[in-house]
Formats: sequence, structure tokens, C-alpha cells
Amino acid sequence: MTGATGGLGAQICCTFADAGYLVAAGYRSSADAARALVESLPGSGHCALAAPVTDSAALARLAADLEARYERCDVLVNCAGTTRFVPHENLDGLDDALIDDVLATNVRGPFAMVRALQSLLSRSCRPGGGVVINISSIAAQTATGSNVMYCASKAALDNLTKSLARALAPRIRVVSVSPGLADTEFVKSMDVAWRDEQASRTPLGRLAQPDEIAQAVLAAARDLRFTTGCVLPVDGGRPLK
Ligand SMILES: NC(=O)c1ccc[n+]([C@@H]2O[C@H](COP(=O)([O-])OP(=O)(O)OC[C@H]3O[C@@H](n4cnc5c(N)ncnc54)[C@H](OP(=O)(O)O)[C@@H]3O)[C@@H](O)[C@H]2O)c1
Repeated sequence: MTGATGGLGAQICCTFADAGYLVAAGYRSSADAARALVESLPGSGHCALAAPVTDSAALARLAADLEARYERCDVLVNCAGTTRFVPHENLDGLDDALIDDVLATNVRGPFAMVRALQSLLSRSCRPGGGVVINISSIAAQTATGSNVMYCASKAALDNLTKSLARALAPRIRVVSVSPGLADTEFVKSMDVAWRDEQASRTPLGRLAQPDEIAQAVLAAARDLRFTTGCVLPVDGGRPLK
């Protein structure tokens, strides 16, 4: 699991631990928070490991560590992501450094994780084999979101999901889970009028709870065994309005 300590990542770790999975909580800068998260999870055998997704050498070390601990990987959740708010009409505000960071983290990162863990995923003995869940975003479809390149990065991630699903079948399934805006602590800290407007634009009349995203990730990984190469929306019907 990458991005394990984020607003969605922590909930996904808890949901998988509750379901009996051993969780390897991947972090970049939040090592202490990842260790605290692991301590809080039900059951034993979980661990916190460095998983900086733009550093392929570090990901090779991560794979070796996972192999030594668990011998295989049943589910990889690519949840790490980055962005910054830049109005879409402000092209100068979207500088090259931000573009490179967004694409390296949100697109190259998930690919690098799959490349590093492919061998471990192919050893999964769970029904349906190994699974990769890429946490995408409704922004891939609506082209509205924090900035132009964030939307493009999630569209690229959904495309990657399809190519990799074909390339890695039948041993490994690959699915995008595509949330609408979720009511994480970060979103709760934002302007109330903006949050209310986002909720009102959603046919179900509210934002997603992190637990609802996590349950969709668990279902796609554990239950939807004949599902691969597709995008599972968890957005309250937002594109309909
Ligand atoms: N929250 C939403 O409403 C929403 C909606 C749609 C889609 N999403 C997607 O869901 C995912 C999680 O969102 P979130 O709200 O939980 O994010 P968040 O709270 O901002 O957390 C981002 C996470 O990504 C990790 N990260 C960033 N750059 C990294 C890198 N180079 N290598 C490894 N880890 C890195 C961070 O790790 P460290 O703290 O260790 O640095 C952090 O755990 C993202 O992909 C996001 O695009 C979120």
C-alpha cells in the first residue's frame, strides 16, 4: 500500500486489516505516522516500509523486504498521489516542476510499483490471483479538479490500468478505483461553502466517506474476481449532474 498515511490510505489500511489481510503501510516522508498507524491496526504481522514511488532503487529494496517478510503480495494498492490547486485557466501557474512532480508521482509511480512487485504479485495464492488497485479520480473523466495536469495524470493512470491488465493477465488483475471528492480531514479543513457546493453537485447529495472508498477497494480486490482492466467509480453519480 503506497500513501498509507494519507486521508484515504489510512482508512484503506484499516479496512484491509479488519478483513484479515497483513498490511505493509508504505510511506515517503511520514515514517512516524506510518508506524503509529501500523500499531493501531487489528491483528499482528503488519509493518511500515519506505515506499517513495519516484525512487525505483528504493522500490527494489522494498520488494526484497516484502519478499523476506511475506514471500508474496496479494494486493498492491497504489494510493500515493500529489497535486496542488492551480486554476485551469492559469497556465503559467502550472510550472514545469509541478507538472513533473504530478506525472512522476501519479503515473510513473504506480507503474514503478507494479514493475517492482510483479513477481511477488504473481505468487499470490488468493482466489483470482494477485490484484493491483490504482486509486484514480473522477477528475480523469470530468477534467475538473485541482489542476489541469492532475486531471491528465489520473486519465493516464486509468489508461495504464487497461494496458497492465492485459499485459499481466491471467495471474494479476488491475483495476482503477475512481473516487469523487472524499470528506477527508484535509477536505473538512476547506471552505464550508465550497464543500457544500461540491456535495450539492453530487446526485447522492453528499461527499464520499473515506470508509466508502476503502470498502470499494476491498470489494474490487477480494470479491470482484472476474473484473480487470476497468474503472470502478465511487463518486455518488457526480458525472450525471
Ligand atoms: N481525497 C480525495 O477526495 C480524493 C478524491 C479522488 C482521488 N483521490 C486520490 O486518492 C489518493 C489518496 O488521496 P488522499 O486524499 O489520501 O491524499 P493525501 O492525504 O494528500 O496523502 C497523499 C499521500 O501520498 C503520499 N505520497 C505523495 N508523494 C509520494 C511519493 N513520491 N512517494 C510515495 N508516497 C507519496 C504521501 O506520503 P507521505 O505523507 O509519507 O509523504 C501521502 O501519504 C491520491 O492518489 C488522490 O489523488 C483523492
